[in-house]
Amino acid sequence: MNEISHVPVMPKEALELLRLPQGGVAVDGTLGLGGHAFLMAQALGPHGHLIGIDRDSASLGLAQKKLASLILKIDLLKGSFSTLDKFLAGLKVSAVDGILLDLGISSFQLDDGQRGFAFSHDGPLDMRMDIEAQGMSAADLVNTLKQAELEKIISEYGEERFARRIAEAIVMQRSRAKITTTKGLADIILRALPKGYTRGRIHPATRAFQALRIAVNEELEALSLGLEVCFRALKKGGRLCVISFHSLEDRLVKNKFKSLGFEQEGVILTKRPLVASDEECKENPRARSAKMRGIEKA
Ligand SMILES: C[S@@+](CC[C@H](N)C(=O)[O-])C[C@H]1O[C@@H](n2cnc3c(N)ncnc32)[C@H](O)[C@@H]1O
Repeated sequence: MNEISHVPVMPKEALELLRLPQGGVAVDGTLGLGGHAFLMAQALGPHGHLIGIDRDSASLGLAQKKLASLILKIDLLKGSFSTLDKFLAGLKVSAVDGILLDLGISSFQLDDGQRGFAFSHDGPLDMRMDIEAQGMSAADLVNTLKQAELEKIISEYGEERFARRIAEAIVMQRSRAKITTTKGLADIILRALPKGYTRGRIHPATRAFQALRIAVNEELEALSLGLEVCFRALKKGGRLCVISFHSLEDRLVKNKFKSLGFEQEGVILTKRPLVASDEECKENPRARSAKMRGIEKA
């Protein structure tokens, strides 16, 4: 594995949007390695309370080390931000001042070949953020789903125009031998695509891999439910800030914010999504596709 790192995306913008009060309570619902959480903790000050949640226990362990020097109250919890209400009830916290959701996976998860998120590192085809949860892995999906279901996932979640060809190739290959590795799947995808298509800016397997990751972790379901649960957990004047990296996620956030705005007295803080500066995109290519939206409970 490469050096363990993850550079937080749009940190200044996130803090400005969250506008956390000194001594307040805030939630980082996608703690990762604690990059944003560290800055949120500094904004809350020594009398604040920071709650960090992640589905991935390895990330929680690393974030705990990163936050160890801080003296405010910190609770780190394993699970999904979509169950924030239960976590807060367990902590006897009735409402919070700010919540950050920085979606997707971290560079730390991507760079660990054993997690199976990336075609660039050969490893078992897993892709589960929560490896203790016994849910379906990416290998389970590609080896068992019907061809039409695979095509739908790759087309919808990956926005991949050659989804049919890829699904056909997967089904053909698995009839000979189970598909078990990231490299094995990447090779099948490469062979399925027309030659010219492989010369683009992104690796040709990127979209299909992303689609499988979203399906394995039921990311859109968690986001859809999570946005409502998080909004409900805010105090009056509390703010929710979401950073997404995929057009489907951004659309979901936009539409959910609109309905929360009308139905539950939310004030949308970003008429258009905020994006990272050119300077940040140069230094951190991951920031290029980031879109940030915020809403305040009125
Ligand atoms: C982009 S990283 C966050 C990085 C973090 N902001 C930082 O600065 O280090 C996203 C993290 O969210 C976690 N995650 C994704 N979906 C989640 C969910 N529904 N509930 C909890 N954690 C989730 C992933 O495991 C990953 O660690």
